[in-house]
Amino acid sequence: GLRKREVNVLVVGLDNSGKSTLLNHFKPDDHKSGDVVPTIGFNVEKFQNKNVAFTAFDMSGQGRYRSLWEHYYKDCQGIIFVVDSSDKLRFVVAKDELDTLLQHPDIANRRIPILFFANKMDVKEAMSAVKISAALGLDRISNKPWHICASNAVTGEGLQEGVEWLTGQIW
Ligand code: GTP
Repeated sequence: GLRKREVNVLVVGLDNSGKSTLLNHFKPDDHKSGDVVPTIGFNVEKFQNKNVAFTAFDMSGQGRYRSLWEHYYKDCQGIIFVVDSSDKLRFVVAKDELDTLLQHPDIANRRIPILFFANKMDVKEAMSAVKISAALGLDRISNKPWHICASNAVTGEGLQEGVEWLTGQIW
Protein backbone atom coordinates (compact mmCIF):
# COMPACT_ATOMS: atom_id res chain seq x y z
CA GLY A 1 0.00 0.00 0.00
CA LEU A 2 0.95 3.63 0.22
CA ARG A 3 3.64 4.35 2.66
CA LYS A 4 4.19 7.73 4.12
CA ARG A 5 7.78 8.67 3.66
CA GLU A 6 9.46 11.18 5.82
CA VAL A 7 12.34 13.20 4.59
CA ASN A 8 14.57 15.44 6.61
CA VAL A 9 15.64 18.73 5.12
CA LEU A 10 18.35 20.76 6.77
CA VAL A 11 18.06 24.50 6.48
CA VAL A 12 21.40 26.19 7.02
CA GLY A 13 22.97 29.58 6.48
CA LEU A 14 24.58 32.41 8.33
CA ASP A 15 22.69 34.30 11.00
CA ASN A 16 20.37 36.95 9.60
CA SER A 17 20.20 35.30 6.17
CA GLY A 18 16.43 34.80 6.54
CA LYS A 19 16.04 31.17 7.60
CA SER A 20 13.32 31.75 10.18
CA THR A 21 11.37 34.06 7.89
CA LEU A 22 11.61 31.55 5.08
CA LEU A 23 10.61 28.60 7.25
CA ASN A 24 7.50 30.40 8.41
CA HIS A 25 6.08 29.87 4.91
CA PHE A 26 6.33 26.11 5.29
CA LYS A 27 4.93 25.86 8.75
CA PRO A 28 1.43 24.75 9.51
CA ASP A 29 -0.65 27.84 10.32
CA ASP A 30 -0.86 27.18 14.04
CA HIS A 31 2.93 27.22 14.34
CA LYS A 32 3.73 30.46 12.58
CA SER A 33 6.42 32.73 14.02
CA GLY A 34 9.74 31.57 15.24
CA ASP A 35 9.31 28.91 17.83
CA VAL A 36 12.97 28.35 18.32
CA VAL A 37 13.79 25.42 20.53
CA PRO A 38 16.86 26.23 22.54
CA THR A 39 19.06 23.17 22.65
CA ILE A 40 22.39 22.76 24.37
CA GLY A 41 24.43 25.60 23.07
CA PHE A 42 22.76 26.23 19.76
CA ASN A 43 19.33 26.97 18.38
CA VAL A 44 17.60 24.40 16.29
CA GLU A 45 14.17 24.90 14.81
CA LYS A 46 12.17 21.83 13.86
CA PHE A 47 8.78 21.28 12.37
CA GLN A 48 6.86 19.00 10.08
CA ASN A 49 5.01 19.92 6.90
CA LYS A 50 3.27 17.01 5.19
CA ASN A 51 5.97 14.38 4.79
CA VAL A 52 8.87 16.72 5.20
CA ALA A 53 10.59 17.30 8.50
CA PHE A 54 12.54 20.55 8.50
CA THR A 55 15.44 21.20 10.83
CA ALA A 56 17.10 24.59 10.74
CA PHE A 57 20.19 25.94 12.37
CA ASP A 58 22.69 28.74 12.05
CA MET A 59 26.17 28.00 10.85
CA SER A 60 27.95 31.03 12.19
CA GLY A 61 28.97 32.23 15.57
CA GLN A 62 28.78 28.86 17.22
CA GLY A 63 31.76 26.99 15.89
CA ARG A 64 32.33 25.34 19.22
CA TYR A 65 28.94 23.63 18.96
CA ARG A 66 29.53 22.44 15.43
CA SER A 67 30.13 18.85 16.56
CA LEU A 68 26.63 18.85 18.06
CA TRP A 69 24.70 20.04 15.05
CA GLU A 70 26.76 17.97 12.65
CA HIS A 71 24.86 14.96 13.98
CA TYR A 72 21.92 16.11 11.85
CA TYR A 73 23.91 15.59 8.64
CA LYS A 74 23.59 11.80 8.68
CA ASP A 75 19.82 11.71 8.52
CA CYS A 76 19.15 14.47 6.04
CA GLN A 77 18.00 13.84 2.47
CA GLY A 78 18.11 17.43 1.31
CA ILE A 79 19.77 20.72 2.21
CA ILE A 80 18.55 24.28 1.86
CA PHE A 81 21.37 26.80 2.06
CA VAL A 82 20.18 30.37 2.58
CA VAL A 83 22.34 33.33 1.55
CA ASP A 84 21.61 37.00 2.19
CA SER A 85 22.11 38.41 -1.33
CA SER A 86 22.71 41.89 0.04
CA ASP A 87 25.41 40.89 2.53
CA LYS A 88 28.37 41.03 0.16
CA LEU A 89 30.86 41.41 2.99
CA ARG A 90 29.98 37.96 4.26
CA PHE A 91 29.79 36.03 0.99
CA VAL A 92 33.26 34.74 1.80
CA VAL A 93 32.09 33.56 5.23
CA ALA A 94 29.11 31.83 3.63
CA LYS A 95 31.46 30.21 1.13
CA ASP A 96 33.70 28.94 3.95
CA GLU A 97 30.68 27.43 5.70
CA LEU A 98 29.52 25.84 2.48
CA ASP A 99 32.98 24.36 1.86
CA THR A 100 33.09 22.98 5.40
CA LEU A 101 29.66 21.43 4.92
CA LEU A 102 30.60 19.89 1.56
CA GLN A 103 33.75 18.36 3.01
CA HIS A 104 32.02 16.75 5.96
CA PRO A 105 32.26 12.94 5.87
CA ASP A 106 28.48 12.57 6.25
CA ILE A 107 27.89 14.83 3.22
CA ALA A 108 30.93 14.65 0.95
CA ASN A 109 30.24 11.40 -0.89
CA ARG A 110 26.46 11.45 -0.89
CA ARG A 111 24.36 12.56 -3.83
CA ILE A 112 22.32 14.85 -1.64
CA PRO A 113 20.49 17.71 -3.39
CA ILE A 114 21.26 21.26 -2.29
CA LEU A 115 18.90 24.14 -2.88
CA PHE A 116 20.39 27.61 -2.56
CA PHE A 117 18.18 30.57 -1.87
CA ALA A 118 19.68 33.89 -2.94
CA ASN A 119 17.44 35.55 -0.40
CA LYS A 120 16.54 39.23 0.08
CA MET A 121 16.33 39.72 -3.67
CA ASP A 122 14.15 42.76 -2.99
CA VAL A 123 16.96 44.71 -1.33
CA LYS A 124 18.38 47.31 -3.68
CA GLU A 125 22.01 46.23 -3.32
CA ALA A 126 21.19 42.54 -3.71
CA MET A 127 23.45 40.52 -6.02
CA SER A 128 21.89 38.31 -8.67
CA ALA A 129 21.65 34.56 -8.23
CA VAL A 130 24.24 34.17 -11.02
CA LYS A 131 26.75 36.36 -9.21
CA ILE A 132 26.13 34.60 -5.94
CA SER A 133 26.65 31.21 -7.49
CA ALA A 134 29.99 32.48 -8.81
CA ALA A 135 30.94 33.93 -5.41
CA LEU A 136 30.15 30.63 -3.71
CA GLY A 137 31.88 28.61 -6.43
CA LEU A 138 28.86 26.43 -7.04
CA ASP A 139 30.14 25.15 -10.37
CA ARG A 140 32.70 23.09 -8.43
CA ILE A 141 29.93 20.95 -6.94
CA SER A 142 30.10 17.94 -9.19
CA ASN A 143 28.59 15.04 -7.28
CA LYS A 144 25.38 16.61 -6.06
CA PRO A 145 22.43 18.14 -7.83
CA TRP A 146 22.10 21.80 -6.90
CA HIS A 147 19.90 24.69 -7.84
CA ILE A 148 19.85 28.38 -6.96
CA CYS A 149 16.74 30.55 -6.74
CA ALA A 150 16.37 34.21 -5.95
CA SER A 151 13.89 34.62 -3.11
CA ASN A 152 12.11 37.09 -0.92
CA ALA A 153 11.34 35.28 2.31
CA VAL A 154 9.14 38.13 3.50
CA THR A 155 6.66 37.86 0.61
CA GLY A 156 7.39 34.22 -0.18
CA GLU A 157 8.45 34.96 -3.75
CA GLY A 158 10.70 32.26 -5.20
CA LEU A 159 10.18 29.81 -2.35
CA GLN A 160 7.71 27.54 -4.10
CA GLU A 161 9.84 27.18 -7.21
CA GLY A 162 12.84 26.23 -5.08
CA VAL A 163 11.07 23.75 -2.88
CA GLU A 164 9.43 22.08 -5.88
CA TRP A 165 12.86 21.53 -7.38
CA LEU A 166 14.12 20.08 -4.10
CA THR A 167 11.25 17.68 -3.53
CA GLY A 168 11.53 16.62 -7.18
CA GLN A 169 15.11 15.58 -6.47
CA ILE A 170 14.26 13.70 -3.29
CA TRP A 171 11.14 11.68 -4.02
P1 GTP B 1 19.07 34.15 12.84
O1 GTP B 1 17.85 33.87 13.64
O2 GTP B 1 19.91 35.28 13.32
O3 GTP B 1 19.85 32.93 12.51
O4 GTP B 1 18.57 34.70 11.42
P2 GTP B 1 17.71 33.99 10.32
O5 GTP B 1 18.57 33.43 9.28
O6 GTP B 1 16.68 33.10 10.90
O7 GTP B 1 17.04 35.29 9.68
P3 GTP B 1 15.61 35.89 9.98
O8 GTP B 1 14.57 35.06 9.32
O9 GTP B 1 15.49 36.16 11.42
O10 GTP B 1 15.73 37.25 9.14
C1 GTP B 1 16.66 38.25 9.49
C2 GTP B 1 16.11 39.61 9.09
O11 GTP B 1 16.05 39.71 7.67
C3 GTP B 1 14.70 39.87 9.58
O12 GTP B 1 14.59 41.24 9.91
C4 GTP B 1 13.84 39.56 8.36
O13 GTP B 1 12.61 40.27 8.35
C5 GTP B 1 14.73 40.00 7.24
N1 GTP B 1 14.49 39.26 6.00
C6 GTP B 1 14.44 37.92 5.82
N2 GTP B 1 14.23 37.61 4.54
C7 GTP B 1 14.15 38.77 3.86
C8 GTP B 1 13.95 39.12 2.47
O14 GTP B 1 13.82 38.26 1.57
N3 GTP B 1 13.94 40.45 2.17
C9 GTP B 1 14.10 41.41 3.11
N4 GTP B 1 14.08 42.67 2.70
N5 GTP B 1 14.30 41.13 4.41
C10 GTP B 1 14.32 39.83 4.79
